[in-house]
Amino acid sequence: MAPSILVASLLLYFGLTAASPILARAPVDYAPVPATCPSTQLVRQAAGLSDAESDYISKRYAKASKSLEQWLKRIDESFDVGNGAGEGGWGKWNGKQPKAPMIALTSSGGGYRAMLSGAGVIKAFDERETDIDSGVKGLYQSLTYEAGLSGGGWLLSSIAGNNYPTISSLQTNLWETALMYNVLVPQVLLSSQAASVFADVVAAVDAKQDAGFPESIIDPWGRLLSYGLLYGPEGGIDTTISEITTYSNFTSSNAPYPIITALGVNRFEGICIPQPNATQYEFHPFEFGSWDEGVDAFVSSKYLGTPFSQGSPSGNCITNFDNLGYVLGTSSNVFGSTCGPIPAANITAVSSASTAGTLAALTAPGQPGVPESAIFAPFPNPFQNFDPSPLVAAQPTLELVDGGVGVAAQGSPIWPFINRPAIDVIIVNENSANTPNNFPNGTGIRNTYNAALAAGLSRMPAIPPAETFVAQQLNQKPTFFGCNSADTATIIWIPNYNYTFNSGQPTSKLQYEVNETQGMIANGVLIANYGGKEGWPLCLACGIMAKSGGNLPGGCAQCLEEYCFN
Ligand SMILES: *[C@@H]1O[C@H](CO)[C@@H](O)[C@H](O)[C@H]1NC(C)=O
Ligand SMILES: *[C@@H]1O[C@H](CO)[C@@H](O)[C@H](O)[C@H]1NC(C)=O
Ligand SMILES: *[C@@H]1O[C@H](CO)[C@@H](O)[C@H](O)[C@H]1NC(C)=O
Ligand SMILES: *[C@@H]1O[C@H](CO)[C@@H](O)[C@H](O)[C@H]1NC(C)=O
Ligand SMILES: *[C@@H]1O[C@H](CO)[C@@H](O)[C@H](O)[C@H]1NC(C)=O
Ligand SMILES: *[C@@H]1O[C@H](CO)[C@@H](O)[C@H](O)[C@H]1NC(C)=O
Repeated sequence: MAPSILVASLLLYFGLTAASPILARAPVDYAPVPATCPSTQLVRQAAGLSDAESDYISKRYAKASKSLEQWLKRIDESFDVGNGAGEGGWGKWNGKQPKAPMIALTSSGGGYRAMLSGAGVIKAFDERETDIDSGVKGLYQSLTYEAGLSGGGWLLSSIAGNNYPTISSLQTNLWETALMYNVLVPQVLLSSQAASVFADVVAAVDAKQDAGFPESIIDPWGRLLSYGLLYGPEGGIDTTISEITTYSNFTSSNAPYPIITALGVNRFEGICIPQPNATQYEFHPFEFGSWDEGVDAFVSSKYLGTPFSQGSPSGNCITNFDNLGYVLGTSSNVFGSTCGPIPAANITAVSSASTAGTLAALTAPGQPGVPESAIFAPFPNPFQNFDPSPLVAAQPTLELVDGGVGVAAQGSPIWPFINRPAIDVIIVNENSANTPNNFPNGTGIRNTYNAALAAGLSRMPAIPPAETFVAQQLNQKPTFFGCNSADTATIIWIPNYNYTFNSGQPTSKLQYEVNETQGMIANGVLIANYGGKEGWPLCLACGIMAKSGGNLPGGCAQCLEEYCFN
């Protein structure tokens, strides 16, 4: 199949019938490339963190703890955190060695709605932001980890993939224009101004195919998305997730460790819609893999694409497969839900005016359109014949879809953090669309709780059913879960709410006017700041410190009474 058919099909998916000239352009750095295998082990069973992640986290956590001390001291001098200079004196945490809580943030799925609301939340927490006075600024600097899924993965990719600039700078220098003239919108992509974009995307997909990798609709999807998320030529075409380890803010541990999630499907066994126990995969700068039983393994992200057998390379090593656009496209793979081929019917309309003869031939009546295999994001299976991974050991390819879809969809990437026992507090910014107005109702996080119970993961606090969220309006305000359970993480749940702007935009909305982008982000700042509610910064701090065992300021008792569900 010609790559341009994939691009055309993608456009059809969004309702297009038109055509674009195909120009010849040199693909820049999208194709995977052969490389000499290093002597180090590239695949491992998932027993604890990798040495590389441990090393990063210990440095990051030290910096985050110091920021947390300063943040807490600014909010209330009487927090029991030592002298605010990172010199210790923390109360006992969970009966273990005195230490600062390790904090992670999750940004949920939900298309650009989730990306922009989530961006506002991060902006509110970021002490580098000078044009706001949110009351909770400094908490971003106190994070050790951050995860994103689908639209939240776009947000996290735009941050980490650009070396951690501020939300304000991304908004003005990239997103406002990119979302107004989004190249995913057929009329924009097919306009003469975007002719080179169309051609570049086709050439990139072509180059990957020529290098011997199966085509997928996720290649053009990820490429086109990247134009609005990554700086650099052709929408950051040469950015890989492993390369983040070389960025200055990463090498100086200035930033939370980024994790993007996706789900496995098993088409080979007839399962193309993720079930409640679907394998949760995570992509991060050092590794890709899953903690889940049946896979229970990780591979070095840099060497994704390499053929492996029994945990060792079974051919040349491959690098540059871990393109960040492909990763963020995988995390937001909504096409898998068609669970079958995308029909050819209307591809003909796209290709009829095309100059590419092969295109016409391939879209003749009776041709299959985009085959089912091309609606998933294929990854050469790094865990082939690997003993710890019986669920996938026989598969040549892993096929992945959006991290927030399927039966019992979860919406927020909490899974990586309940699999890392060192994490004490998870701030869950939920922007999923459950209600008719596209606001959350608690379904996703309840599904995470149920899945955690089924998988025997004890770090997840108890979460009530959506009926309780709705009845008690917990889906309209911040709520804390697990305040009173010593053995679980504490979850600080911060749902999307329309304080000043209708932030319940549809997930399918691809184009935002500049004033809409501004309105969404400004509203997101208020989501993190509970609409400017009196006393919220102290209460948020109390929730984070609730299980520290140290002395809490006098005001905390009332806060915990008000915000702790359990
Ligand atoms: C990353 O580095 C730049 C330039 O060195 C700096 O301005 C920016 O604030 C840093 N980001 C973070 C999260 O510290
Ligand atoms: C989910 O559970 C079913 C039934 O127990 C099992 O057959 C299937 O392999 C499981 N899937 C995954 C991804 O673990
Ligand atoms: C194909 O396009 C025609 C009009 O251009 C439309 O009537 C028809 O519904 C489309 N078919 C599919 C399968 O999208
Ligand atoms: C919550 O949203 C889901 C859709 O995601 C819906 O099926 C369910 O009925 C809703 N529950 C309540 C209590 O509103
Ligand atoms: C928020 O939503 C409610 C309920 O739909 C509506 O009454 C209110 O006007 C909305 N506020 C804003 C700022 O959009
Ligand atoms: C954004 O600006 C346009 C005019 O440029 C206006 O029509 C629209 O109502 C504005 N939208 C919002 C949400 O303010």
